[in-house]
Amino acid sequence: MKIRLTDRSFLKLLDFTPEEIRYLLDLAHKLKEEKRRNKLKNRFKGKSLAMIFEKRSTRTRCAFETAFAEEGGHPVFLSTDDIQLGEKESVEDTARVLGRMFDAIQFRGFRQEHVEMLASGSGVPVYNGLTDEFHPTQILADFMTMEEVFGRLKGLKVVFVGDTRNNVAVSMMVGCAKMGIHFTAVGPKSLAPDAQMVAKCREIAQSTGSRINVTDNIDEAVDNADVIYTDVWASMGEESQSRQRSEILAPYQVNDALMEKTGKTESIFLHCLPAVKGQEVTESVIEGPRSYVWDEAENRKHTIKAVMVATLT
Ligand code: CP
Ligand code: NVA
Repeated sequence: MKIRLTDRSFLKLLDFTPEEIRYLLDLAHKLKEEKRRNKLKNRFKGKSLAMIFEKRSTRTRCAFETAFAEEGGHPVFLSTDDIQLGEKESVEDTARVLGRMFDAIQFRGFRQEHVEMLASGSGVPVYNGLTDEFHPTQILADFMTMEEVFGRLKGLKVVFVGDTRNNVAVSMMVGCAKMGIHFTAVGPKSLAPDAQMVAKCREIAQSTGSRINVTDNIDEAVDNADVIYTDVWASMGEESQSRQRSEILAPYQVNDALMEKTGKTESIFLHCLPAVKGQEVTESVIEGPRSYVWDEAENRKHTIKAVMVATLT
């Protein structure tokens, strides 16, 4: 089956088939190799990308900006200090104007609804660089890293530890369901993922052979895990809850003892970053031999470039 993603937006993994995700990952591996050999192809020559950021970013911004520019494109960074978005000018009107001037739009912000509105109103591909609900480009980089380490995705067991209702955890659950990866969310019951989303993922998982579990029992959860994944305890926009989160999430810190409980010497540690060392993960795990977080961060660029190449060329 020939995959064609030209003109598509990348808003959430739920919108993509396993074959389309496979296509993006294959392309990302190819682009990484091209970059390594310094064989860039000017694929975005004459094109421009609007990059809207309501929240801060290191990896996502730098990945989009450098990937677009090194293929000859012109990225334009727009923070909410620079642009009218939903306050003086509606999101719909902003979408229409940007769609007249740019070939694509990246959005990082609060509401998933806004990135969806930009996509429906602009007429150009829109990329979700993180919302409160989803962080789909992150998961492509995570899967790419897992393939580099294990040589496969299907049948692996990923355990997300901590705030399992956040954007990264939920996106990982969707991605695992799509790609036949077993997924366990382990954290306090009060931070469990939305039940409807879990049900949707279980339905998808039926056709790909993956198992989706949600539990608060850490020992059971991490047994036999190939990947232990965590993220900050308070996401952007939730800073006021930091203290309370630290209390309820303390038993779910990823430390050496927890890594041992996988029972597998080859299991690895991933984190989307930025990390609060000493909180959700100890210094010794994130800096230790099982940690692939720096490869994972680099792979943000190759996977984001793959999304843009697939949708813009
Ligand atoms: N992982 C990630 O999205 O990092 P940034 O917030 O630095 O973009
Ligand atoms: N869950 C985190 C991810 C940051 C990349 C946040 O939304 O702040």
